[in-house]
Amino acid sequence: MKYTYFNPTAVEFGEGKIESIVNYIDKNQKILVVYGGGSIKRNGVFEQVSKVLEDYTWFEFSGVEPNPSVETLNKAVEFIKENKIDFVLAVGGGSVIDGSKYIVAASVYEGDGWDFLEGKTIEKALPLGAILTLPATGSESNPTAVISKYSTNEKRYFASPLVFPKFAVLDSTVMNSLDDRQLANGLVDAFVHTCEQYLTYPNSSLLHDGYAQTILKGLHTLAQDWQNRRTALWQENLMLLANQALNGFIGSGVPQDWATHMIGHELTAFYGLDHARSLAVVQPHLLRVMIKDKQEKLVQMGKEVFDMPHNYEMVIEAIEYMYHSIGVSTKLKDYNIDDKVVENVTKALEKHGMSKIGERGTITLEKVAQILELSM
Ligand code: NZQ
Ligand code: ZN
Repeated sequence: MKYTYFNPTAVEFGEGKIESIVNYIDKNQKILVVYGGGSIKRNGVFEQVSKVLEDYTWFEFSGVEPNPSVETLNKAVEFIKENKIDFVLAVGGGSVIDGSKYIVAASVYEGDGWDFLEGKTIEKALPLGAILTLPATGSESNPTAVISKYSTNEKRYFASPLVFPKFAVLDSTVMNSLDDRQLANGLVDAFVHTCEQYLTYPNSSLLHDGYAQTILKGLHTLAQDWQNRRTALWQENLMLLANQALNGFIGSGVPQDWATHMIGHELTAFYGLDHARSLAVVQPHLLRVMIKDKQEKLVQMGKEVFDMPHNYEMVIEAIEYMYHSIGVSTKLKDYNIDDKVVENVTKALEKHGMSKIGERGTITLEKVAQILELSM
């Protein structure tokens, strides 16, 4: 086994930790606080942040959408350039944090920031900090950002060690205001992240598999315990699990799939499905189409996560049952799609250089079509 694991984000976990951000930002730095559609104004998080930043010079930029767009983010880039901002503080879910990663890189770049989504390497970026309000993506302590261009129905990603947040505040008391839809989305997204780095083919590490299984078991337990989703303990556990699912460790040195995500991103780009919901309509069908390749890990997952040894087909049903039990559909017909869905998704994947995806590059466009047909 061989890998480089690098994660420089300081994690400040627990109630009241928003106050700790002053330890990471110099008093003479000009800050831009970036947030979304205003949930933080309604749940008291904005007020807490304002108080903590009392002695700082800071500005705010709001309106970052779920599935953040370059169209909006470029306005923040302009603001930063004009006002000589030194530090960006993202307060929100994955969209606000991803959007802020784009902002910190594009603000110190001469060209069009979309270049980064087309493979251009990021050479510098302003420092970024994150206060997480929705556990799901792991963006708060990872190097990835997923950005959309609404004008062309594109949703693409970049990753750079320069955009890791310097710190991530994980105070789960901010989750009180999340609705069931977002809580379920967070659980499903974190579950699929873990599967993307686990449900491939056998590897030699007992640690990576053991850790991934612990995360999967934890998330499955939270789904079974859905009636307690309004309790502090449930919410704190989701925040912990979702963070660990995508901070880079469980995927280091082991095969990774990510095909569910690549297909899901195209579905969101065309039809606007919530990110997690785009995954739930793909993953079970992908597992069925790729069952031969994934058989051994499915058996292992059945035994270690669902306590159902040997029958790998039942493991896929157990995953589906889990999503349904928290109100997440696994069928495309439950969303506003049209009869062009297969064509749109396969053409977009091809355009984005993803005609052969999955851990072995065996998920071809034909297979993607089969997966989507099964999901209808
Ligand atoms: O915009 P506001 O008003 O804040 O409302 C948001 C938004 O409407 C709301 N929300 C967030 N925290 C809240 C809250 N509402 C009440 N109380 C709170 N405490 O929730 C809605 C959804 O927020 P969003 O940030 O879009 O959700 P999520 O965290 O699921 O992020 C999804 C985005 O992350 C990308 C996805 O593709 C999608 O664009 N991903 C990023 C990844 C990464 N950086 O590593 C990996 C993921 O696989 C994913 O692709
Ligand atoms: Zn995801």
